[in-house]
Amino acid sequence: MNHAAVIGTGSCLPKRIVSNRDLEQIVDTSDEWITSRTGIKTRRIAGAGEENFHLAAEAARQALEMADVPAQALDLILVATITPHMIMPSCACFVQAEIGAEKAFAFDINAACSGFLYGLDLADKYISTNPDMKILLIGSETLSARVDWQDRNTCILFGDGAGAVVVSGSTNRGIRASNLYSDGRLWNLLYMNSADSMNPELQQEQEGCYMQMSGPDVFKFAVRSMEDSIRRLLHRENLSIDDLALVIPHQANVRILNKLSERLSIPEDKMFINVDRYGNTSAASIPIALDEVNRKNGLHKDDMILLCSFGGGFTWGALLMQW
Ligand code: UT7
Repeated sequence: MNHAAVIGTGSCLPKRIVSNRDLEQIVDTSDEWITSRTGIKTRRIAGAGEENFHLAAEAARQALEMADVPAQALDLILVATITPHMIMPSCACFVQAEIGAEKAFAFDINAACSGFLYGLDLADKYISTNPDMKILLIGSETLSARVDWQDRNTCILFGDGAGAVVVSGSTNRGIRASNLYSDGRLWNLLYMNSADSMNPELQQEQEGCYMQMSGPDVFKFAVRSMEDSIRRLLHRENLSIDDLALVIPHQANVRILNKLSERLSIPEDKMFINVDRYGNTSAASIPIALDEVNRKNGLHKDDMILLCSFGGGFTWGALLMQW
């Protein structure tokens, strides 16, 4: 049986670094509050020439170079994003044009912060029926365009960036198992409205098309849901935390990750954290982290890596892959 195995990683962060002190000038907040409640110190914010698809395409170029796969050889491009440049065409189609991957078909995945995990699972399913496929999967966001910069509850949390992987079929490494969930009943705890409808019959009352969030509810759900999905996945695969080389979680809040480590007894050196530098980059956070560890030679052959995430929808889950 063939599985999707990562053969190259890449990432791209906008140039501009925004610190907590910078945010003190914009909203009623403090470096002390943001650091103690979230662990975030800085985030990257996109500027001119750094649209979502620009970041995505640059991350893709790096991943393709590492994988030694020319863009023309790609069969499929998937972009996990909730902040596409346009509603139509997809960000994936923009990336295809940017990198010149004429042979590939391309589409976006919207599963909020869990989009990259959902995308890896999907890539694995494609590979299982067509092992020769070369798939580019990107998580890419410009959330700075969709947060209300006057709302201190949300604007301090998010950042922009992109991470990418190239996957192809392997019989002895790659994705081993996944465990994905959604619960649409909880949509109103974390959501972003779309623009006003042009059809008067379909117009809804809106509070602007910005990110809306019930922070404490999301926090509690994030800890519980990730803990549960990890426990179930490890149990099903007959593995324990000791069998894992590294956990790469969605980077939302260091307190969420500390609680998760505490409940599952994950040693500090097995839990990868970079939310302090980039904030919450939604679907991009896991591939950015994966590329960072990979480029520091932090992953070794046969390492068992666990990825986990939660986000708007709600969507959440965990995925195991053998490096
Ligand atoms: O990828 C998923 C995306 N979302 C998340 O991951 C969010 C998960 N939730 C969280 O990370 C946390 O709930 C937050 C960091 C958003 C908030 O932390 P908290 O400890 O849950 O604080 P809180 O919302 O209960 O607010 C406590 C106080 C409030 O003041 P009062 O009512 O106690 O007077 C807030 O108004 O902190 C105030 N507050 C702030 N103060 C300074 C809220 N935001 C800020 C701020 N600076 N930026």
